[in-house]
Amino acid sequence: MKKSLIAGNWKMYKTPKESVEFAKELVKNTGFHDDRDILICPPFTSLLQVSEVVSGTALKLGAQNVCFEDEGAFTGEISTGMLKETGVEYIICGHSERRNIFGETNFVVNKKVRKTAEAGINPILCVGEKLEERESGKAFEVISSQVRESLEGFKQPEMIVVAYEPVWAIGTGKTATPEQAEEVHAFIRNLLAELFDKNLSESIIILYGGSVKPDNIDSIMLQKNIDGVLVGGASLKVDSFTRIIDYKA
Ligand code: 13P
Repeated sequence: MKKSLIAGNWKMYKTPKESVEFAKELVKNTGFHDDRDILICPPFTSLLQVSEVVSGTALKLGAQNVCFEDEGAFTGEISTGMLKETGVEYIICGHSERRNIFGETNFVVNKKVRKTAEAGINPILCVGEKLEERESGKAFEVISSQVRESLEGFKQPEMIVVAYEPVWAIGTGKTATPEQAEEVHAFIRNLLAELFDKNLSESIIILYGGSVKPDNIDSIMLQKNIDGVLVGGASLKVDSFTRIIDYKA
């Protein structure tokens, strides 16, 4: 059975000390589930210490970004090798904040996705349209080129997770309706079937992200092609993230 994935992206929140305290609280509240995996993605500076807290528990660890080179003169960057030693199993690649604030292109995201999978870590490839792209009827075109270009030449589809995060729904309190999200997820799954193979595309986890909260998680998770969520703001509080983890299947 395909497990769902409930992931928290902490973004640039929580110092190492705050992260450890939070992770300890979350561990107390979170048991193992047969039908869902739980992932937290703290900032780089918290990974090593949080790794010790979550080791042997139901919580998996992920990073929010990575460099596409192994090592060298790349001031301020972090490699897959460095991340691997902290115990991360996932790396978020091409989050819309990376794309829109730090100028990451599909070409760069492609290199990150490949490097991540080559290191034996699951890339979470983020895609999603901006408000003006949705309003001008270009959402599917944008998502299609993001998926195609970010996965061009990618040879390890069994490792990939895709996250659909409409930019207009991130941190705005505006969620895509479950039906709107489902429409895009089905579209992405068809694209994956075309790029890889039909059976394999069925097994790929496609997450929804953008103002996921305790009060909308159940209806989001009811959708056929939504296999989990990537949660920002609501993953920063133990009670709201716990309610999201405990969504009703
Ligand atoms: P919010 O849940 O705060 O809207 O953020 C979503 C997101 O960007 C997760 O990666």
